[in-house]
Amino acid sequence: MRVLLLHGPNLNLLGTREPGIYGSATLGDLEDRCRGWAAGLGIEIEAFQSNHEGALIDRIHAAVGTCAAIIINPGALSHYSYALHDAIKAVDLPTVEVHLSDITAREEWRARSVTAPACAAVISGRGADGYRQALEMLAERR
Ligand code: DQA
Repeated sequence: MRVLLLHGPNLNLLGTREPGIYGSATLGDLEDRCRGWAAGLGIEIEAFQSNHEGALIDRIHAAVGTCAAIIINPGALSHYSYALHDAIKAVDLPTVEVHLSDITAREEWRARSVTAPACAAVISGRGADGYRQALEMLAERR
């Protein structure tokens, strides 16, 4: 089973970006941990990060026929990208949205995710462990 692991804007700066909120692990560290968890579940990870909405959408479209599911942390796009919502809906692959921080416990504008309704589940505020939970969820659905 192949899972597309997508990260949106500013998540390439993990490790140095607001470490009090997002922790000190880099995106590479996080992807490595995900690959480790995934291997134990018989899942192969294809990882991609972009600061550009269209690039993320293109990657979601390209997942059809190559990936069985998607894990996405859309970053701030979660809060306003209807295009990303529609892309997730369009490909009809089981998708779990993950946020490192608890988006419901921060600024008011962050509490709503417009991409979440297109996803099978949302995991928020559990740090890196949220990705492990997402992988387990997808492995169970298989
Ligand atoms: C985030 C939460 C978003 O509100 C923020 O814009 C991010 C990261 C998270 O993982 O907690 O870039 O998705």
